[in-house]
Amino acid sequence: MSRQLRTEGRPVGFVPTMGALHEGHMSLVRAAIVECRPAIVSIFVNPTQFAPGEDLQKYPHTFDADRDRLEAAGVDYLFVPEAGEMYPQGYRTWVNVEGLSDRLEGRVRPGHFRGVTTVVLKLLEIVQPRKTFFGRKDAQQSRLIQQMVQDLHLDSEIIVCPIVREADGLAMSSRNAYLSADERRGATVLHRALDGSRRAIETGERDALRLSAAVREIIRGERLAQMDYVELVDAETFEPVTRLRGHCLALVAARFGATRLIDNLLIEELDGKFRTTL
Ligand code: PAJ
Repeated sequence: MSRQLRTEGRPVGFVPTMGALHEGHMSLVRAAIVECRPAIVSIFVNPTQFAPGEDLQKYPHTFDADRDRLEAAGVDYLFVPEAGEMYPQGYRTWVNVEGLSDRLEGRVRPGHFRGVTTVVLKLLEIVQPRKTFFGRKDAQQSRLIQQMVQDLHLDSEIIVCPIVREADGLAMSSRNAYLSADERRGATVLHRALDGSRRAIETGERDALRLSAAVREIIRGERLAQMDYVELVDAETFEPVTRLRGHCLALVAARFGATRLIDNLLIEELDGKFRTTL
């Protein structure tokens, strides 16, 4: 079907998700609907991107509400494959973006990105979208997928959309549903810490080590937060930087009880000036 739509010259827009949809997902869906028609959304809780002991078994399933929400938004097709269709018995082929996938999230969650890039390649092959929409909330994931698309000459444009946040700044995530009331309050520390960085950059701070030290200090001040990493990296290579230059990302990951959350601040140098986006 996708191939046919494509040859008819209609630009297919695609939003891959794991369901449990929130406004973050819906912002991608709306972007796809504005830029493309038909808009296709997939819901697939991809087992291969969960490391053993992660939350695959308890990942939230809200299929009926998701379907209604997508229909109300005007999505044209919903693709909901079964695990056995995506990974039949004897499945053996994996895609790995070297280097980029071993750092940060990849180090804490071994095998995670191999599962992500493999499933996204498979979905792109099936759906054949002209444009595919991802969220900057998962900045390393978006970057890896851009690299994969470039390396494998895939014919889909990757569009990275802004982070959608709750009123108190917490980045929306399907995993926020796991948080207790106390953890939910504590989790706002990630946004507060990155916002501190944002203000420091606006008043002239350019030293990446001082910026990340200040973020760590704020996160350490939250009793319920267990920090995984705080790093200031080049937005393309994801290698650590010591001074702000070009496009950078301040990346944070922390656990609140059993729930792991990530967030980031985008720092862009434009004509010698730095613009920050939370
Ligand atoms: P999932 O976590 O469901 O996220 C689907 C898409 O929504 C991703 O591109 C993610 O970055 C985006 N997203 C999540 N929270 C967001 C927020 N607060 N603001 C903006 N965008 C947000 O990411 C995955 O699924 C999977 O790894 C997937 C790509 C579907 C492959 O299995």
